[in-house]
Amino acid sequence: MDNPAIYLPEAREAAQEAGRYLLQGLGQKKEVDFKGQVDLVTSFDRRSEEMIFRRLSQAFPDHSFLAEEEIRRDRASDYCWLVDPLDGTTNYAHGLPVFCVSIALSFKKEVVLGVVYDPAREEIFTAVRGQGAYLNGQPVRVSETAELGRSLLATGFPYDVRSSNDNNLDHFSNFAVRAQAIRRLGSAALDLCYVACGRFDGYWEKKLKPWDLAAGSLLVEEAGGRVSNLEGGDFNVFSPHIVASNGHIHQSMLEILSLGLVK
Ligand code: IPD
Ligand code: CA
Ligand code: CA
Repeated sequence: MDNPAIYLPEAREAAQEAGRYLLQGLGQKKEVDFKGQVDLVTSFDRRSEEMIFRRLSQAFPDHSFLAEEEIRRDRASDYCWLVDPLDGTTNYAHGLPVFCVSIALSFKKEVVLGVVYDPAREEIFTAVRGQGAYLNGQPVRVSETAELGRSLLATGFPYDVRSSNDNNLDHFSNFAVRAQAIRRLGSAALDLCYVACGRFDGYWEKKLKPWDLAAGSLLVEEAGGRVSNLEGGDFNVFSPHIVASNGHIHQSMLEILSLGLVK
């Protein structure tokens, strides 16, 4: 494998170009299509995806590409780009400036590079496996909080929240009475980056996709945190559930998740 850092400049440019485009459109009225009862998509998601694909496919024509909206490209390559062109679409459609662009590169299905760009705050989170996690070029670390009762947690709810019992409300109420507080930002990639830089102490969520998780989970690992599945086993971006934390509170989070009220 090449040093994945060689791919970082292009990934960073792609995220920033798309992010600037999204920020310009934030206040504009948007046509919204519904993918499900609550799962929506705008023309901005699609255009952002096209911009990222154009740039990365020109730079790396041999690499595969998997993005949320529609672009898939299979190449006989060990490298694959995993792209969420707009993470936080519901916020974005309401004009709420909490959203980002998430771009990751995997090698033989292991994430080796991640970039998450938040244009509203001009924050860019970057990580290369084995080379640390950065916010606007400065190294970041997870928090030192050692007790769940002092921890600020984040989570989210799946798009089938109305129709499925497996909708995270059980875990939410279990954590709500044990943690210091819980936030629901509406962007899984930013939730993970905020664990990486110590703004959140822990995060859990179910039913996510590889493009939601890939870049942010590498940020957490490279910032000294821990990621796992809900049982504490190895995390992999192609399985949908995640617990991410500063490491200190991870075991406590797993214990609360094992209580799950809804079966
Ligand atoms: C969503 C956000 C949200 C999470 C959802 C995701 P999208 O991604 O990350 O925080 O709770 O499950 O699907 O649709 O805005 O790209
Ligand atoms: Ca997403
Ligand atoms: Ca998205």
